Amino acid sequence: MQKNIVLLPGDGIGVEVIASAKAVLSALSERYNHSFTFESHDIGGIAVDNHGSPLPTQTVDACKKADAVLLGAVGGPKWDQLPSHLRPERGLLGIRKSLDLFANLRPVKGFAKLLHSSPLKEEVINGSDLLIVRELTGGLYFGRPSERSEDGKSVIDTLSYTRDEIERIVDKGFQSARLRRKILTSVDKANVLESSKLWREIVEEKSNEYPDVTVNHVLVDAAAMKLITNPSQFDVIVTENMFGDILSDEASVLTGSLGMLPSASLAENGVGLYEPAHGSAPDIAGLGIANPLAMILSAALMLRHSFQLEEEAKMIETAVEAVIDEGYHTADLQITNGKKVNTAEMTKLVVDFIKS
Ligand code: IPM
Ligand code: MN
Repeated sequence: MQKNIVLLPGDGIGVEVIASAKAVLSALSERYNHSFTFESHDIGGIAVDNHGSPLPTQTVDACKKADAVLLGAVGGPKWDQLPSHLRPERGLLGIRKSLDLFANLRPVKGFAKLLHSSPLKEEVINGSDLLIVRELTGGLYFGRPSERSEDGKSVIDTLSYTRDEIERIVDKGFQSARLRRKILTSVDKANVLESSKLWREIVEEKSNEYPDVTVNHVLVDAAAMKLITNPSQFDVIVTENMFGDILSDEASVLTGSLGMLPSASLAENGVGLYEPAHGSAPDIAGLGIANPLAMILSAALMLRHSFQLEEEAKMIETAVEAVIDEGYHTADLQITNGKKVNTAEMTKLVVDFIKS
């Protein structure tokens, strides 16, 4: 299979973990006789430095032409004081919107060896395996107006959704549940928010089209509590943009580290973008100690969702699991009597497994 992959390393550890994903994909393409070509473009802070914009036109154009996009992370203290239209995060939000990546899938699965890495009790996280389906191009992140008043004394952000926007993500939630244990939890704040009331109505309507899926509604505050008290009750969670952002960081605790959480951002038909759920981690950037596994697992999601290469995707996931089972871990994780390795060593372990 011949595929052109656009790499958007971005800032901080994004650069390091993208290099890892590229090494893993190269090993994989050799083993399975695929031809993957890579093209790198700037996004985020580095793009502000090099092009005066967090999302240069050439980056958007390259992504639109690509077969898939891998993104590292954006942001860092260097760009924190910039006006909001120049902030690195604008690059990320901009590319999600430009590619219409409305569906963000964040699978959360604990690895047996990492149960101790979580501050939660082993008996609580045991058996948890869930998928967060987060709406990614609407809600508070994109609603207008979003501004400060001229006198600086008041601010406004807008949470707006159209019926179409909700319907397509709810469909994605049901479809994802169908491929798993067929339990869909819709998370909202329907006791307060108008947007959530419509959301809940749409989930109810749609449930008639998916009679094989069991649906329940949970308010977001209760969902936050249940996620860390009884996570194994969840199969697929579908929710709006901001709730999904918050709950997915929380859910990463189940895996032991945010450094383990991959994600896939999908459009109806167009190109998909794959990125770890973690950020640019400026505190450890450049030290070569970042955990590359969320990025590597995101590459596996790319193989599965964009290229339909299920066997190859599984190969990466098996490799990651095997390496962790052997006790190897990066600094963000703890394994009793484990072997601490850096980014390059962890990458090589995964690459060697794939080559073997
Ligand atoms: C994420 C990140 C982004 C988000 C930030 C960097 C804009 O936290 O992908 O979860 O909030 O979506
Ligand atoms: Mn987030």
